[in-house]
Amino acid sequence: MLSRNGRKVWVRDEATILSDETGQPYMIQGVLLDITERKQFENEIARLDRLNLIGEMAAGIGHEIRNPMTTVRGFLQWLSNKKECTKYKEYYDLMIDELNRANSIISEYLSLAKNRTINLKNQNLNAILETMFPLIQADAMVSDKYVVLDLAGIPDLLLDEKEIRQLILNLIRNGLEAMPAGGAITIRTYQEGNKAILSIQDEGPGINPDVIEKLGTPFFSTKEQGAGLGLAVCYSIATRHEAAIDVQTSQNGTTFFVQFKTSR
Ligand SMILES: Nc1ncnc2c1ncn2[C@@H]1O[C@H](COP(=O)(O)OP(=O)(O)O)[C@@H](O)[C@H]1O
Ligand SMILES: [Mg+2]
Repeated sequence: MLSRNGRKVWVRDEATILSDETGQPYMIQGVLLDITERKQFENEIARLDRLNLIGEMAAGIGHEIRNPMTTVRGFLQWLSNKKECTKYKEYYDLMIDELNRANSIISEYLSLAKNRTINLKNQNLNAILETMFPLIQADAMVSDKYVVLDLAGIPDLLLDEKEIRQLILNLIRNGLEAMPAGGAITIRTYQEGNKAILSIQDEGPGINPDVIEKLGTPFFSTKEQGAGLGLAVCYSIATRHEAAIDVQTSQNGTTFFVQFKTSR
C-alpha cells in the first residue's frame, strides 16, 4: 500500500463482511495494521541467516580448495621461470592471475562467516582512511576519477583494521564503478549525536528501487563481471562492529552511511 507521502507501507488486513438478514452483504468492516517495521526486521533476519549459512559453508570448503590451489599456483610459478617455458610465459601469467582471482573470491566468502573471530582494537577511523588514501586515489586515477577526503574529529572506535579497510574499499569500488570518467567520490567522517559516521558518496546514476531491496544479498550483481559479494561482505563486517549501514540514492548519486556507536 502507498501512504499519502508515497512511502511503501506493508499492511495486515483483517476484515469481515457483514450481511443483512437475507444474506446480502452490505458492509466490510476491518482494520489495517501497519507492519512495515516488522517486515523490515524479518528481511534483516532472513539476510543474516543466509549470510551465516554461506559463511559456514565457505569456512568448511575454503581450506580444502585453497590448499590444492596453492600447490598448483606454486608449480605454475616455478615452471614459468624455466628457460624452456619462456615462450608460454603469457599463458602461465594468465593461469596464475585466474587462480589469484579465485582465491580472492574465497577470501571474500570466508569473511561472510558471522561468527568469525575479529581483532578489535581501539583506534581512529580517520587514521585508517589517511593511510589508505594514496592507494584509493591511485585506484581512481586509473579510470580518470577523483576522490575527496573530508574528515572531521571523531573519537576512537573499536575496529578490526583489516575488515574496515575491506569495507571501505568495497564501497569505494562500487562508487567508482557506478560513475563515468570525471566523477568524484567524497569520503566523509563526522560525529552525529552518539554516532560516528563514515559516508561514501558518488556521482553515479543512483540505484533503482528494485535493486535497493536486494543490496547485500550474496551473488546479487547487476554487473556483467560482478561477483556480487562486495556489499554482502560490507554488511557482514558492519554487523560484527555493531554498526549499521544506510543508503541514500537519487539520480544525482548514491551515498552509503556506516554508523558506528560511540560511548559518548
Ligand atoms: N554506489 C553504487 N551505485 C550504483 N549501484 C550500486 C552502488 N553500489 C552497489 N550498487 C549495486 O549493487 C550491486 C551489488 O553490489 P556488490 O555487492 O558490491 O556486487 P558487485 O559490485 O560485484 O556487483 C551492484 O551490482 C550494483 O547494481
Ligand atoms: Mg562491488
